[in-house]
Amino acid sequence: MTTTAPHSTYKGPVIERVGIVGCGTMGAGIAEISARAGLDVRIAVSSDASAARGRRRILGSLDRAVAKGRVDEADRDAALARIDFTTDLAGLADRQLVVESVKEDEQVKREVFTFLDKVVTDPEAILATNTSSLSVARLARVTERSGHVVGIHFFNPVPVLPLVEIVPSVLTERDITERAARFVTDTLGKTVIEAPDRAGFVINALLFPYLLSAIRMVDTGLATAETIDRGMELGCSHPLGPLRLADLIGLDTTAAIAEAMYEETKEPLYAPPSLLLRMVECGILGKKSGRGFYNYA
Ligand SMILES: NC(=O)c1ccc[n+]([C@@H]2O[C@H](COP(=O)([O-])OP(=O)(O)OC[C@H]3O[C@@H](n4cnc5c(N)ncnc54)[C@H](O)[C@@H]3O)[C@@H](O)[C@H]2O)c1
Repeated sequence: MTTTAPHSTYKGPVIERVGIVGCGTMGAGIAEISARAGLDVRIAVSSDASAARGRRRILGSLDRAVAKGRVDEADRDAALARIDFTTDLAGLADRQLVVESVKEDEQVKREVFTFLDKVVTDPEAILATNTSSLSVARLARVTERSGHVVGIHFFNPVPVLPLVEIVPSVLTERDITERAARFVTDTLGKTVIEAPDRAGFVINALLFPYLLSAIRMVDTGLATAETIDRGMELGCSHPLGPLRLADLIGLDTTAAIAEAMYEETKEPLYAPPSLLLRMVECGILGKKSGRGFYNYA
């Protein structure tokens, strides 16, 4: 891992038109910060209902930012006006950067990349994935421009957390990695670290054994979610305990990340606990579904 320095010698095309695929927890956040940065943002979703939910998500987040005095009303309205939706991936044809942020499922992501490769016309375009744990190289290989595919891994909530992992695969051209890093630092105002294309990259490889251990503690009855979270918040100064954090990430996403990491490493610490799997099977997905380790009425 290296901390990426400013890319002062960069001379490539400026990215002004951004596409995002998926408008769930993360896609909505990436769209919001891109629009706030003055970019033209188009989001590809699977249905009109998804578009309506995505727009509500973005508006809710912008309204919270207005209420906290981080954004004024005129900037909120201007940001919203820069975002449009399409239910056809071909609507992203003219984008200079596309960030795929659909659910953590390799088959679904492969289909998205296969299609993006066919429709995005700009030969300089960057095709990025916001995957948390899947191989960037395996996604790149379904395209005929694997050198232009890179991981841009944001953190949740995207408008709040400053870090982004830039994840080049063994196939990514160096110039593409640098353009992606420069876009994230200079245009989006985030801080980047470069991370290896290994399941979990740097941050989730460290974070997930902790989150999964906390779920196992609840599963075995060693401690309640409230006790664990309160302990970590007050005893270790974590802003959020591990069960609240898992709820925020989404329990389906947490399980999918754990499965991908376990699949690649066979490290038992990454194996998803039974309680997590049962909750996901029953549609208990954390904050986004209204119920997880806590209730969110
Ligand atoms: N949740 C987190 O904390 C977090 C953090 C960093 C990265 N990620 C990654 O971001 C990606 C998205 O996760 P999320 O938390 O936003 O999940 P989510 O469940 O909130 O949203 C996923 C979205 O993908 C949409 N979708 C599924 N298939 C689609 C398709 N073919 N075309 C368009 N949209 C499609 C779904 O309708 C849904 O809106 C995953 O790869 C995840 O690993 C998540």
